[in-house]
Amino acid sequence: MAKDTIQIGECTVVLNQQKAQGIWEMELKAPLYLSDVSAFMPGQFVCLVPLDPASVMARPFSISKISVFSGSFTLLYKLVGKNTELMTKLIPGDKVYFWGPLGQGFLPKSSTYDEIWLVGGGIGIAPFVFYNEVMSKLPESIVRVFYGNRTQAEIIPLDLYSKEPVVITTDDGSAGYKGPVTDVVANFMKAAMGDKILVITCGPNIMMSKVAEICQQAGIECYVILETIMACGLNSCKGCTINTESGIKSVCHDGPVFPAKEVHWNELV
Ligand SMILES: Cc1cc2nc3c(=O)[nH]c(=O)nc-3n(C[C@H](O)[C@H](O)[C@H](O)COP(=O)(O)OP(=O)(O)OC[C@H]3O[C@@H](n4cnc5c(N)ncnc54)[C@H](O)[C@@H]3O)c2cc1C
Ligand code: FES
Repeated sequence: MAKDTIQIGECTVVLNQQKAQGIWEMELKAPLYLSDVSAFMPGQFVCLVPLDPASVMARPFSISKISVFSGSFTLLYKLVGKNTELMTKLIPGDKVYFWGPLGQGFLPKSSTYDEIWLVGGGIGIAPFVFYNEVMSKLPESIVRVFYGNRTQAEIIPLDLYSKEPVVITTDDGSAGYKGPVTDVVANFMKAAMGDKILVITCGPNIMMSKVAEICQQAGIECYVILETIMACGLNSCKGCTINTESGIKSVCHDGPVFPAKEVHWNELV
């Protein structure tokens, strides 16, 4: 995405509500002159700063949903530190500063695959709500969502477009399959032997590296949505660079979606 399509400005909070233990959903309406959210693509993210003196730096968040009709977009976020704590306190009508959409969106050609699998771990599910809607509208695509969590209380009720039931796993067995989501993905893959599948995964690096390994062993194409600590989000500070098979890349500009086989997992896990 070229820099001149990046929008910068103040957004108004439309909705900010807790969806599960430690997880919030925030809908933001861009001002009229910035409201063409139809340019947002799955896999992209925005940088966001609550207008509060305690908030010193912007933070990146995946675009989880867009509404072209109301010119708004939605984030799912996990409370982990100062900025996300400030975000939980915002109420409808409050303003935040943002820039985006950032990074390269990635949409596979659905006609090439029998099924597209979206594998999210914890808050790594955030980009897949958007992916699910866009991919499910394409002809002949079966989109299957795998959603791994530690426990039931952390599971966000997902309002997904596709008809396929979400495959839920929890580490403690309190909901869905018991055990790591990667085990379930591996089992489904054995059952789907011979099908042409594309996997996109987002979540903790250790989980994504395991998904990448399972896919590599099965000869399945896999893309990962990486998260690194970011400052500018604009390919300027070089704080988010990683080594890849194709050289040094900025996660904020060249990613955050990368072919799994390009990633040097030993440097990230
Ligand atoms: C491209 C991208 C998309 C993201 N999308 C989402 C999303 O949709 N929802 C969501 O909840 N989070 C997302 N994140 C992570 C989110 O940006 C961090 O959780 C957030 O910056 C934490 O800010 P804070 O001030 O609350 O925490 P801080 O006080 O800055 O940090 C608290 C803890 O979180 C860790 N942390 C900080 N930044 C990151 C990061 N980027 N990745 C992992 N750990 C981090 C710190 O090391 C520290 O341990 C994304 C990150 C990237 C790079
Ligand atoms: S965050 Fe500054 S270059 Fe990527």
